[in-house]
Amino acid sequence: HMQINKVCCFGAGYVGGPTMAVMASKCPKQTFVVYDINELQINKWNNKQYPVYEKNLDEYINQTLDNNLIFTCDIDIALKDCDIAFLAVNTPSKKYGLGAESSLDISYIDSCLQEIKKYPLTKKLILVEKSTVPIKTCDYINAVLKDKNICVLSNPEFLAEGTAIQDLLNPDRVIIGGTIEYAQQLASLYQQWVPKEKIIFTNIYSAELSKIVANSFLAQRVSSINSISIICDKIGADVNEISQCVGSDSRIGNKFLKTSVGFGGSCLKKDLLCLIYLCESLQLDEVAQYWRQVYLLNEFQKQRFYNLIITSMFNSLRNKIIVILGVTFKANTNDTRESASLMIIQKLQEEQAILRIYDPQGKIDKLEQYQSLDGIFQGASAIVILTEWEEFTKIDYAQAYNQMAKPSYCFDGRNLLQGDIMKSLGFLYYGLGRI
Ligand code: UDX
Ligand code: UDX
Ligand code: ADP
Repeated sequence: HMQINKVCCFGAGYVGGPTMAVMASKCPKQTFVVYDINELQINKWNNKQYPVYEKNLDEYINQTLDNNLIFTCDIDIALKDCDIAFLAVNTPSKKYGLGAESSLDISYIDSCLQEIKKYPLTKKLILVEKSTVPIKTCDYINAVLKDKNICVLSNPEFLAEGTAIQDLLNPDRVIIGGTIEYAQQLASLYQQWVPKEKIIFTNIYSAELSKIVANSFLAQRVSSINSISIICDKIGADVNEISQCVGSDSRIGNKFLKTSVGFGGSCLKKDLLCLIYLCESLQLDEVAQYWRQVYLLNEFQKQRFYNLIITSMFNSLRNKIIVILGVTFKANTNDTRESASLMIIQKLQEEQAILRIYDPQGKIDKLEQYQSLDGIFQGASAIVILTEWEEFTKIDYAQAYNQMAKPSYCFDGRNLLQGDIMKSLGFLYYGLGRI
């Protein structure tokens, strides 16, 4: 049984940085080196100006940085005498050629493999797929590195943004796919803080697939409840009540049943599309269609929401002031990738509305935003809530109403506020799937 002394990680991004910080703190006997080709990114970590915003990240970096955690652009520092190397580089949706917009682009994985290929390894290296990768990437890695002394494992990461540290400290499960002898060596790291029964050993394809399936199921639940919100709108039922009634069935569970203006983020859509692409490439058209509908319903939900805004305001938004509350894809993150706000803001701009945009953390490129809520409601015709920030529940809406143009609309894309209270203040209030 080989002793693990040194671990490295390719990619100091959202996954690599926090994951290695927590591992280093829980595994004090091992050394962790995070390697990135982007010097700026490495400097940020070393200067504690983190490129990602996560609660308590600071604490774990402070404990470990320059003790058993190193951030570097030097491949030699990373790979010298290394036992385990994680691949945590970005794998975005492919933007070109075959499978454009749906299959994953593994060119960054490729460049890592080239680095490893060039490097004179002195002992066996366990290579771990941490980023989401297309199914059978392990076969590809083995083919590229067939002359090297390596073994490939799949160990997908399930952390969610905004709760990264908590998710890493207390994961629902750790999945390790691949040859059991090496899988156990990787498990020996996790066992330093994760209960044994939460570590699941699988074959490597199952591990690769489980990641895109998990995210596709999460997307499916949001689309499922959103589809029901549309029915509720038509018949006067309340979707929040439905979520509670249905979610209290322990077989169904109560999480991920909050209706919204549509799921966003860098993972759900990307992994769902990756699953659809896999089905299509296996010529499984019915299965592909089943999952594609989950994606299409999310697009429809966003469309439906801006149509609601435009039609409720008599298709006359030109020169009217609209306050947008929230641009991030969910609360407690600064990330706006794939956020429903992107599409909705664009559509409202096309209607030539005057937008006043505020988010406590998020910033959309090239878009002017308010730094605070001061004066934001003055003369506005509508409030549009797109992210469930707690701050938005604490606004004095009576005062806002007094400052707004009449009629004053409120479109709540997160069912964040109490509709009856908003209506009693005088707002024309519209939630999702509730009267
Ligand atoms: C169902 C509901 O569970 C129950 O709450 C409702 O009141 C009546 O309908 P039932 O029809 O008795 O109950 O069967 P259930 O245990 O839900 O199974 C339905 C079908 O799904 C069965 O054919 C079962 O074999 C299948 N099933 C269930 C699966 O194929 N996989 C599963 O994981 C679970
Ligand atoms: C997701 C997975 O949760 C995580 O396990 C995986 O590793 C990465 O992808 P993340 O993208 O950070 O994490 O966000 P998540 O909390 O899953 O939310 C995704 C989107 O769904 C958000 O836009 C959120 O607002 C939306 N959502 C979530 C709903 O609309 N309703 C819900 O009930 C839950
Ligand atoms: P994720 O959400 O998967 O962590 P990020 O985009 O946040 O993705 O981070 C990925 C990181 O991987 C980036 O900092 C990027 O510079 C880095 N990266 C890309 N290619 C390589 C490579 N060949 N070697 C090392 N790091 C790389």
